Amino acid sequence: MNTVAELTIRALAESGVERLDGYSSSLSEACEATPPPYGMAWYGEKYREIACDPSWLANSLIANAAKEGEGSQKLWALAGRATQPEVSKQVRLHAIDEARHARLYISMLGIAFPEAVDKEIIAELNKLSPGYTSDDEPDRLPAAAEAQVLDELIQMNIGEIRTRIHQLLLRPVIMVHCPPESRSKLQRILDSLLGDETRHIEYTARLIEKAMAEESAFVRHTMRKRLDEFNQITLDEVGELSFEGA
Ligand SMILES: [Fe+2]
Ligand SMILES: [Fe+2]
Repeated sequence: MNTVAELTIRALAESGVERLDGYSSSLSEACEATPPPYGMAWYGEKYREIACDPSWLANSLIANAAKEGEGSQKLWALAGRATQPEVSKQVRLHAIDEARHARLYISMLGIAFPEAVDKEIIAELNKLSPGYTSDDEPDRLPAAAEAQVLDELIQMNIGEIRTRIHQLLLRPVIMVHCPPESRSKLQRILDSLLGDETRHIEYTARLIEKAMAEESAFVRHTMRKRLDEFNQITLDEVGELSFEGA
């Protein structure tokens, strides 16, 4: 099985997720058809090579915060467009997570590079997060077609898989840059981020599995098509030395 599919399916099993056979086979087929670059050795090597540079890594944390903030706003709108209450509810919680993640990336910047930023810069950068909390509700927007929502869930699932791999790449590298006395604090943030990204893969995978009862061909086709597109986007981003995602 392709590394990315294997890593993902194993992470779900280790989190205690029930078997999602339709989803797993669809992901696996798509990864065989167009293997994701982020499952390849050169990708990790390239990341480690450029992430040695502290200023690159510090900027990458800010770029990640920006991506988390943008992702959160898109999810917020999707929660307002989705007509199935269960989907809308889960996407809303996802948006709240990503809003928190934007701030966590800025916290990590302050912890790993205390010399580089002061309180004012941190306060300014925290504005990259839309700041949604469990007290907020998205506005209801014109309803999206179910096929459109399913397509977006598939794209989110693929994006979250890459984000989780980016998290795994970041962990050892940022630890090296971080002052030793702050490493345990950093570790706690990294653990919470990784747990959240795994949960984002999990709930979208469950919704995809459920949709496959009636829309199996559509899911398989869309998974392949979107993974292929996302792989190309990833290659373009690596060309610009960008390794970010929500
Ligand atoms: Fe996520
Ligand atoms: Fe995130």
